[in-house]
Amino acid sequence: MLTARKVMQVSPIIPVISVQSVEESLRLAEALVLGGVSIFEITLRTSCALDAIKAVAHEFPEAMTGAGTVLNADQFKRVEDMGARFAISPGLTDELAVFQNSIPLLPGVATASEIMQGLSLGYDAFKLFPANIVGGVEALKAFGAPFKDVVFCPTGGVNAANAKEYLALENVLCVGGSWIVPSKLIQEQNFKEITRITQEALLALQ
Ligand code: 3PG
Repeated sequence: MLTARKVMQVSPIIPVISVQSVEESLRLAEALVLGGVSIFEITLRTSCALDAIKAVAHEFPEAMTGAGTVLNADQFKRVEDMGARFAISPGLTDELAVFQNSIPLLPGVATASEIMQGLSLGYDAFKLFPANIVGGVEALKAFGAPFKDVVFCPTGGVNAANAKEYLALENVLCVGGSWIVPSKLIQEQNFKEITRITQEALLALQ
């Protein structure tokens, strides 16, 4: 069974993607795969996101296509129907926690109480969001003491300069971020440069 932890182990970087068209999403997915990243978090922030998830999941069956910015039960069901293999949310609500036998959900947390609420609902893998603002590396180190078995994907303000520091932490399995898929390059359709940034980012983590 696919779990959130397994999703987090596909790649050290989960690219947070916002696309304006299905065509754009396919070219972006191709650029990322060429660069060495075969997991995609396509956020529900644009009107084509559901179609993009469906198309990318279909065209890249060996990659792991998921949905981001999943805020409620209706969106969760829709992304699952479109073929998303995981869902990421900036937070956690009772209506999202109902989906325990569906695709894995990586819910967002920012505080100890939210981690405890998540644990009580059956989650032990979280997105830390917005990571840099809620304490970054130091917060994750501090959470490691009381929450020994909890793992995180810090997201929000992660970039080439700090990704390695996050990934060096025992309780961090991967990081999420948009820095390897800059919207400017997507607008310019400079997918070659996205491949290059992706390769560079992975190399820098070694
Ligand atoms: C997210 O939704 O996960 C964040 O907006 C991504 O944050 P970043 O753009 O700072 O990487």
